Amino acid sequence: MSTITEEINRRRTFAIISHPDAGKTTLTEKFLLYGGAINLAGSVKGKATARHAVSDWMEIEKERGISVTSSVLQFEYGGYCINILDTPGHQDFSEDTYRTLMAADSAVMVIDASKGVEAQTRKLFKVCVMRRIPIFTFINKMDRDANDTFELLDEIEKELGIATCPLNWPIGSGKEFQGVYDREKKCVIAYSDTQKGTREGTATEILATDEGALRQAIGDAAADKLLEEIELLDGASAAFDLEQVRAGNLTPVCFGSALTNFGVEIFLQHFLKMTTPPLPRRADVGVIDPVENEFSAFVFKIQANMNKAHRDRVAFLRICSGRFDANLEVRHVQGGKTMRLSQPQQIMADERKILSEAYAGDIIGVFDPGIFSIGDTICMPREKFQYEGIPTFAPEHFARVRQVDTMKRKQFVKGIEQIAQEGAIQIFQEFNTGLEEIIVGVVGVLQFDVLKYRLENEYNVEIRLENLPYEHIRWIENKDEVDLDRLTGTSDMKKVRDRKGNPLLLFVNAWSIGMTQERNPGLVLSEFRRN
Ligand code: G4P
Repeated sequence: MSTITEEINRRRTFAIISHPDAGKTTLTEKFLLYGGAINLAGSVKGKATARHAVSDWMEIEKERGISVTSSVLQFEYGGYCINILDTPGHQDFSEDTYRTLMAADSAVMVIDASKGVEAQTRKLFKVCVMRRIPIFTFINKMDRDANDTFELLDEIEKELGIATCPLNWPIGSGKEFQGVYDREKKCVIAYSDTQKGTREGTATEILATDEGALRQAIGDAAADKLLEEIELLDGASAAFDLEQVRAGNLTPVCFGSALTNFGVEIFLQHFLKMTTPPLPRRADVGVIDPVENEFSAFVFKIQANMNKAHRDRVAFLRICSGRFDANLEVRHVQGGKTMRLSQPQQIMADERKILSEAYAGDIIGVFDPGIFSIGDTICMPREKFQYEGIPTFAPEHFARVRQVDTMKRKQFVKGIEQIAQEGAIQIFQEFNTGLEEIIVGVVGVLQFDVLKYRLENEYNVEIRLENLPYEHIRWIENKDEVDLDRLTGTSDMKKVRDRKGNPLLLFVNAWSIGMTQERNPGLVLSEFRRN
């Protein structure tokens, strides 16, 4: 029997981030394959059609052919218990993805070698940096024509502001892809187009110091180029420093091809060696240690109607300390109640498994009778601390919402408030008026469709949305020091307040933000707000 400490120490919890189509799903499948969680890559998720089968909890997913939900995958590999937080690939659902990153201890960033850093990666990366979590980069699709390797690394450093340290180095790409040079072992691992969906083939290793063998294996031209690049690289790239990796300042980089199973297992092994077990997390009473402290967790995601037949609502908890078991009495701090969590389950893709125990690092889903909010803390009954809130990310699209049938006011308010509580949308009101005008803010425009669909289908309320021109939102950090009535902005600025009464400003463009700040010395504006 392993102890609680051993169980926690073998946990690794990470999120995979990428721009849609970079290969996140393919890479995840290969990880699962190595862990023996699936027998054939593609059986959990895979081709566009198969992907529907696992997570189409909403018609919208089917209509648009995208994955809205994120799921959690747990598997064992080499003695580790790994939790992968899969994130929705579609850029319109980025707010959910942002929050998923709050539950992870590190992130794997997948980059398409022919595209480099793309918009979605940039956004998600900002959140990783904000949390200072370690980031591991997998540059994928080397079996296709790729951008110049030095340029790719340069782009990551410049665009994302993080130093890179390649663990291996590609030899050619596309049809000319011959494998990678392993910098630690100082040898070339020859590329073999292993059968898709099988385990990585046995790699042929050629010592780079044996120049004759190297030239014979990859040819003179490729060998000359490689030797020159290794020399350049050794002189120019950041030295490997585990401390810097763990502080989120340096990203180890591996090159490979998820589809053809090249370099994936090696990447996983490096990753596991460099990452840490769940780390202590900050709460209002100080730092909570995963091993020393008893059970505690926070809610990072709420999802309604995952299963249409049940019309249920599931709250996803990230366990931060101790051991959880199904009979445990816990305290929901924000609700001020002691309770047993109902139907604790592990959610893997579409399947749910009722679980009896879980440890710090694990993600569990529990039935939510409508009491939880994003960021809530759950801990032992005699404790009362709260974890640091999950920041609310700035919506970038705004619309005024009106219900078509004014008689359905009650359902409308209930529906919109519940959906806002889940964090799918943010709602605001005009600064000096009541509830009659509701302004909805979303991170991706598709969420407007989700809102409309859900209000109609779940609350039987038809709504009309009128798009507003605002693109920027700023919370007023020093609201107690600022006289809001006298605040003078630009003519296109709008004063609103959020659900908790906090004042904020909507702007059409970045110029107006600067102007407003200039006109109101001492005004402190912020793009994020901690709940
Ligand atoms: P995502 O989750 O990041 O959105 O990407 P996903 O894994 O679904 O991969 C997107 C497409 O890229 C898929 O092709 C996939 O097969 C392909 N792909 C992933 N990794 C590699 C790689 O290393 N090399 C090459 N050449 N292709 C790769 P698709 O045609 O859109 O789908 P499918 O029909 O192949 O599933």
